[in-house]
Amino acid sequence: MTTRIPDGGFTPLPACFAEMPLGDVYRLIEPGPVVLLTTALGADANVMTMSWHMMVDFEPPLVACIVAGGDFSSQALERTGECVIALPDVAMARAVVGIGNTSGRRIDKFAEFGLTPARASTVAAPLIAECFAGFECRVIDTTLAETYGLRILQVVRAWRDTTRPNPKTIHHQGYGDFAVDGRRLHLPSKMP
Ligand SMILES: Cc1cc2nc3c(=O)[nH]c(=O)nc-3n(C[C@H](O)[C@H](O)[C@H](O)COP(=O)(O)O)c2cc1C
Repeated sequence: MTTRIPDGGFTPLPACFAEMPLGDVYRLIEPGPVVLLTTALGADANVMTMSWHMMVDFEPPLVACIVAGGDFSSQALERTGECVIALPDVAMARAVVGIGNTSGRRIDKFAEFGLTPARASTVAAPLIAECFAGFECRVIDTTLAETYGLRILQVVRAWRDTTRPNPKTIHHQGYGDFAVDGRRLHLPSKMP
């Protein structure tokens, strides 16, 4: 049964609530971990930081992600239709921020931030040896790419480091703030 809306409407929000700037909304609902996205165009591989992404389907795994038109990576993504999503842990946080504050237009970010590109099996974009997991992806939908930089990626192969069962991911909260993945809680749930 649903909740009946009282005559006169719901009670006012408790006084402890204040209106938030709309620009801060994403800082509270930012979803999954900050990831790295690699691309390869011809003989050039690049890497960028990405926190605006979400799962869209279980299997095959589909991931929606925003790669802004101004990012050098967006050109490679557009032209090749493929990339790798690599998952860094908290030990890589400084490199992750550095990668997100510099462009492959000017520097070799793999060399600059000490990352080891590793061969993927189905895409030219590299996996990253220091990351605890890597997903080989193909772009399957670009309907909203021009408007929002939004692309749907299908993960076609996925790898994870079996020696690191419990990596701590980082989660962007804006302006250089990150939450570090913490305590694990297990509750009965019908959700897979
Ligand atoms: C924590 C963090 C999260 C970021 N998330 C995104 C994102 O989701 N989408 C995006 O287009 N850029 C994002 N960026 C910015 C890009 O990583 C940045 O523009 C980068 O310089 C692009 O590199 P490139 O020009 O070599 O492609 C993020 C940066 C940081 C530091």
